[in-house]
Amino acid sequence: MIIPVILSGGAGTRLWPASRKGYPKPFLDFDGSGSLLQKTWQRVAQLADSQLPLIITNRDYYFQSREQLKQVSGKADFLLEPVGRNTAPAILAAAHYVNERYGAEAVMLLVAADHLIHDQAAFARSAAAAARLAAQGKLVTFGIKPQFAHTGFGYIQAGDAIAGSEGCHQVTSFHEKPDLAKAERMLAEGGYFWNSGMFCCTAGQMLAEFAEHAAHVSDAVRQCWDVSRADNEHWHMFALDQDSFGKCPDISVDYAVVEKSANVAMVGAGFDWSDIGSWDAVAALGEQALPENVINIDSQDCYFQTGKRVVAAIGLENLVVVDTPDALLISRKDRAQDVKKVVDRLKAEG
Ligand code: GDD
Ligand code: MG
Repeated sequence: MIIPVILSGGAGTRLWPASRKGYPKPFLDFDGSGSLLQKTWQRVAQLADSQLPLIITNRDYYFQSREQLKQVSGKADFLLEPVGRNTAPAILAAAHYVNERYGAEAVMLLVAADHLIHDQAAFARSAAAAARLAAQGKLVTFGIKPQFAHTGFGYIQAGDAIAGSEGCHQVTSFHEKPDLAKAERMLAEGGYFWNSGMFCCTAGQMLAEFAEHAAHVSDAVRQCWDVSRADNEHWHMFALDQDSFGKCPDISVDYAVVEKSANVAMVGAGFDWSDIGSWDAVAALGEQALPENVINIDSQDCYFQTGKRVVAAIGLENLVVVDTPDALLISRKDRAQDVKKVVDRLKAEG
């Protein structure tokens, strides 16, 4: 039995001004074929042996998420956070939920709501391989062949092949978001993979990993779970207690557990994958059909997302232009990561 768990909480600040607090990244549709959340739901709901997906998200996004699922005739259970505390508390709360509802042996397939994957058959094969390793007690990651020294990803050092499981390895070490020099060293050395940000593990093993490697997170989330459990009568819309969840440390699962555990395995991803983290990643998705309201005179290698206004571009190169009613972004593609700084400054200025 696989319980797909969709993590849909990140604000997606590097996709400002399209991604906003009130309308974050998972709700965005980049090519007119459905939002990232809708595509993620479809990807996991189709898997053989899967139960109803569990979506873990902020309580403010409950109605929007349900509305988006309705548009694709989708159903899910919801675990609702009062505040964002990053992926470690979210994943641990999901592990408590699955443990109590389906049992400690139930396999959770944790997926991010901001990835694009086209090859469904290959994804299903990798997920099945991961579920087999998870059932044997492993914390499973999905390794992506690295293309360059990206500093926004985790790096998995693949060790011995696991007999009988094609493309699967023990993991020797894990390095979350290295600096550029370290990322370059790992690429030059070889044997490293990008961490896709998806994980597979039984609920019982996930609880045990946190208890061993991140006791402070484990204790805080357990307290929250006990209080929340007393307040919730049904599983379909389970709200986490505000006070106690707010006290959980703000940390990602990669730092809290994956970097520390010696029990990590990797499935080499057989599928295409892109993390839609920033505008350069959106631009790299493929040849863009120029929006109708862009008048382009000799501009090259630019990405445009426009609203109602006419946008005229003359002689531009390698830029991202995102126009919304109240904010306009113009950035070099190779500086697209710095959009986060713009959002930080806007926040600081209130
Ligand atoms: N429910 C919930 N609550 N979801 C969250 C929260 C939260 O507080 N914070 C983040 N998420 C969701 C995001 O929406 C996203 O779907 C997923 O969890 C991963 O969070 P990101 O914030 O996007 O992580 P990242 O991209 O910096 O790093 C992770 O993903 C990379 C690949 O995309 C790490 O796992 C890296 O190691 C990995 O390479
Ligand atoms: Mg991400």
